[in-house]
Amino acid sequence: MELIDQVAALQAWADEARAGGLRIGLVPTMGALHAGHRALIDEARRRADRVVVSIFVNPAQFDEHADLAAYPRSLEADLAMCREAGVACVFAPAELYARDHETWVELEQIARPLCGASRPGHFRGVATVVTKLLLAAKPHLAFFGEKDFQQLALIRRLVRDLGFGVEIVGVPTVREPDGLALSSRNVHLAGEARRQATALVRALAAAEAAVRAGERRPEALVRVAREELGKAPLARIDYVELRDPQSLRSVEAPLRDPTLLALAVFFPRASADGEEVRLIDNRVLPPPPREEAT
Ligand code: PAJ
Repeated sequence: MELIDQVAALQAWADEARAGGLRIGLVPTMGALHAGHRALIDEARRRADRVVVSIFVNPAQFDEHADLAAYPRSLEADLAMCREAGVACVFAPAELYARDHETWVELEQIARPLCGASRPGHFRGVATVVTKLLLAAKPHLAFFGEKDFQQLALIRRLVRDLGFGVEIVGVPTVREPDGLALSSRNVHLAGEARRQATALVRALAAAEAAVRAGERRPEALVRVAREELGKAPLARIDYVELRDPQSLRSVEAPLRDPTLLALAVFFPRASADGEEVRLIDNRVLPPPPREEAT
């Protein structure tokens, strides 16, 4: 496995693979790799000849300094996982931005709601770093998790709008046995907060059950999800929203099509320093059953 820390060296590596007719798969990460990242790598191994994993904690996408400072880092364990998973190349640059960097990639509508509303500048940082990573690794395919649904939708739009010629592959969310979506931030959860964190997946399941039982009113489905989250006293809701899965625009009543239910919820951090950890999860709800003609 190659370990590369310079953009030019990665581009040379990619040029060589391409010259040999090999298909490159890129898995962008911020490290602290877990089984969710591993699912992306395994899918990339199935679909591409050479897999590049990038590991870079991108300062441009953190809206709060405390969050950036607390972000877990574990390069040695990450490299071991990549080696074991058959990754051809890890790109782990110390820095990706020139001191006088001033070019940013910004999407409009799709970056505004949900996490874009509560984390100003976050998606500008994501879109910019993903652009830089695509230009550096020159992949044929790039892999992103459905856990970060808005990120995946935004990257699909970015790649289409700018004509990158890269296939974006979405990978289903990997979960703990109790349903909690794996996340690098879960290390900050312990005890009662960790137990109550299953409220997110229960809220998604409750809303899905309501749709399947015929509920078509968006506000009623949001209420069902909020009620379930309300059963976890440590949870502080950031948002509970229904959106169109492609455009992320708001939806109209009555629901007819598959609809994204997206949640973001704060829990107190294990360190009990008054800081919180923000968890997200989502599910595309099936269309409500058609009303029987009477
Ligand atoms: P990071 O949070 O490290 O996640 C890297 C990739 O792993 C993302 O595509 C994310 O959706 C996916 N992922 C995380 N948890 C997952 C889970 N439980 N199941 C499946 N996939 C999961 O997302 C980022 O980094 C950054 O924003 C990045 C795209 C690297 C740009 O900096």
